[in-house]
Formats: sequence, C-alpha cells, structure tokens
Amino acid sequence: YNDDTWKFLFPLLTNFAMSVTVYFLTIRLIPRIKDMFIKANLYGIDMNKSSGEKVPEALGVVSGCLFLITLFLFIPIPFTNYIFNDVNFPHNEFMEFLAALLSICCMLLLGFADDVLDLRWRHKLLLPTIASLPLLMVYYINFNSTLIIVPKPLRPWFGMSVDLWILYYLYMGMLAVFCTNAINILAGINGLEVGQSLVISMSIVIFNIIELSGDLWKAHQFSLYFMLPYLATSLGLLKFNWYPARVFVGDTFCYLSGMTFAVVGIIGHFSKTTLLFFIPQVINFLYSVPQLFHFIPCPRHRLPKYNKEIDKLEISCTLFNKNDINTIGKLIMWTFKKLRLIKWQEDTKGVVTCNNFTLINFVLIITGPIKESTLTLILLLIQVFCSLLAFVIRYPLASIFYDV
Ligand code: UD1
Ligand code: MG
Repeated sequence: YNDDTWKFLFPLLTNFAMSVTVYFLTIRLIPRIKDMFIKANLYGIDMNKSSGEKVPEALGVVSGCLFLITLFLFIPIPFTNYIFNDVNFPHNEFMEFLAALLSICCMLLLGFADDVLDLRWRHKLLLPTIASLPLLMVYYINFNSTLIIVPKPLRPWFGMSVDLWILYYLYMGMLAVFCTNAINILAGINGLEVGQSLVISMSIVIFNIIELSGDLWKAHQFSLYFMLPYLATSLGLLKFNWYPARVFVGDTFCYLSGMTFAVVGIIGHFSKTTLLFFIPQVINFLYSVPQLFHFIPCPRHRLPKYNKEIDKLEISCTLFNKNDINTIGKLIMWTFKKLRLIKWQEDTKGVVTCNNFTLINFVLIITGPIKESTLTLILLLIQVFCSLLAFVIRYPLASIFYDV
C-alpha cells in the first residue's frame, strides 16, 4: 500500500517542486529579457496611462517557454517506474502527454506569430483549430468515446446515452477555438488576461484535487502535471503585468492559456466542467457577438477609455449612423436597449453613440468611472464568484440531472 501511495505522490511532488523553481526563474528572467522585446519592436502603448511609454509586448512567450521547458524536463518522471522495471510501458499515456505538449507548443508558436504579424480575424479562428488536430487524433486512437450521458429529464426521448460521433470531435475542436479567443477578447486592462487565466487554472486544480480520490484519478493527475507549472509561470508573469503594467502578455499568452485548458479538459475527460469555469468569458462572448460579426461596427480596440483629468476609466464607445446598420443590427440594438444592456445616445441627425459590447464596459456602466486596478479587481472577483457557482453546478446540482 505504502509503495503505491509513493508511486502516486512522487510525480506530483516532483512536479510541484519543479513548479516552485520555475516560478522563481520566471520572475528573474522577465525583467532581464524585457528590453530585448522593445529593441525587436515588440511593444505596445498602454492606452490607459498618460505617460505614453513603450511597454514590451508578448512576454507570454517567456512564461510559455518556461512552462514548456518544465514539462519537457518532467516527461520521464511519471514513467520512471516502467523504465527501471522494463515492464508494460504505457504507450497510450505517453502518447497523450506528447500530443498535449505538441498542441500547446504549436499554439505558442501561432500566438507569437499573431503578436508579430497582427493576424486577421479569420486566422484567429483557424489557428487553434489546426493546433488541436494532433490532440483530436490521439483522442481518436486512445478513447474514441463519443458517447454522452443524457440528463435524467431528457431520457424518455433520447435514452440513457447518445453517440455524437463526428459532432463530438467538432465540439472538441470548437472548444479549443473558444477557449483561446474568449480569453483574448476579455482583455485591455492591466492584469486581466493573466488574472482570469489564473482563476480558471486554480479552479481546475481544485477540481482535480477533489477528483484525485475518485475512479478517474489518473486523468486528474495528468491534468495537474500541466496545471501546476502553468500556474507557477503565469503567477510570475502577473507580477509584471499587474497595474501599473511593466510588460504586456500578448496574444501568445491568451492562446497558450486557452489551449492548455482545452487540452487538459479533453484528455482528462472533463471538458464540460472546464467550460463551466469560463462563465464570464461565455457572457462576454455572447455580449460581443453583435460586434464580432459586424452587425454593429467594431473598432480595432474596445478597451475602456482613459480619462486623464480624473485618472479613471470610462466606457469606450462606438459611433455610427443609425441608417448604416442592417435590420438584424437594428433588431439587436432594440433588444439590448429594452433589456438595458447598453448605454445609448442618439442625436437629431441619427448619429448613435453606444458603448462597445464588452463585459468590462458593462461593469463600467454600473459602477461609473473607476480606477484601472479597481476595475481589474472587480472583474477578477466576478471570475472567482462564477467559479464558486461552477462548483455548485458541478456537484450539488449535477446530481439532479445525473446519477453521480
Ligand atoms: C483584443 C480585443 C480588443 C482589445 C484588445 C486589448 C476584441 C474583438 N478584441 O484585441 O477590443 O482592445 O484585445 O488587449 O474584443 N493594452 C493596453 N493595456 C492592457 C493590455 C493591452 O493598453 O492592459 C493595449 C496595448 O496597446 C497593447 C494592445 O492593447 O499593445 C494589445 O492588443 P492586442 O492583444 O493585439 O489586441 P487583440 O487581442 O487583437
Ligand atoms: Mg490580445
């Protein structure tokens, strides 16, 4: 018994120790390397400050590389036992590990390409789809289980389970696209991209630890191998991205994070729970849909507007003529106005000023102008609250719909 416990704990403890080490490496490396980014013309201007300084951008590539290096070094650890005793090497597990790393590595590269080249919208949808292919292939070879259990109330119509077959793969591919982009569009104020990713990853870690005592402990142990170094490197990054930001994380970080969450969700068989931790991102996405699909004009940047006089952030607006939007756009505007989801002004000539449809602006509509750091804190608190809600849905509520 003791031997088994050790075999189970040894890789986790090693992983934890490596994660602590890589945290310190991250906070040492970033300040030393960040000026190289400015020299390479990889910088952005912080639009919510009056200084107009150049802030190095895409530092997510540093934390991302350190994250990958940690995992590369970690690869042999869970398999030491098989290597030394030379019996029944678990090729399946090994393959999952490598495919997961390949997908994340691929996304890091593509995210960095996006930061350097400023890709267009359609590419942002294409890239994660391609990066998730190795993973889907491994899923096909190892599990190929596309059955889903039907919730109790629907069973009279669909039976116990439904085989989604190809649709399930489509769903997994879309999960990768969603996770990557959803984090990227809930952004624009210091610390928010990393902050929300940290809350999500901590929620996944807590969920994994709870499930370690269950039947599927192996999948959750696997997820922890990825989540702990991710958490450590991102925490290191947050130290420099927190208000006032000394570095920007770039799309590299958003893509890498989204892909990491999708990967552990898919391989660990808890992709629905992963999605539950994305409630604020889902809300922000749904609210953004009219602008993302151009029913309402969408400016290049939708982040809040900085008011120099009071050193606070206000809602940012989009300006357009009422006659320039089509029927669907008008219908959306009418509905949103009736539901009081937007702040809207119209002058006599039909020129409309309306807030950009983001969760950040929505919070600002409720609170009025506030400081940037306060706004980040409020949004992170919403994220934490939604995670608590997710746990309530996952545990007490799920038992109403499933036999758990
Ligand atoms: C997404 C959003 C965009 C938002 C931007 C901010 C959509 C469709 N796109 O675009 O509305 O404005 O993220 O990240 O919703 N910046 C700051 N402070 C920060 C972080 C970023 O001023 O704390 C600015 C900097 O100028 C930085 C730039 O945003 O250079 C980075 O924008 P980028 O990540 O390239 O924008 P997108 O991800 O394309
Ligand atoms: Mg971005």
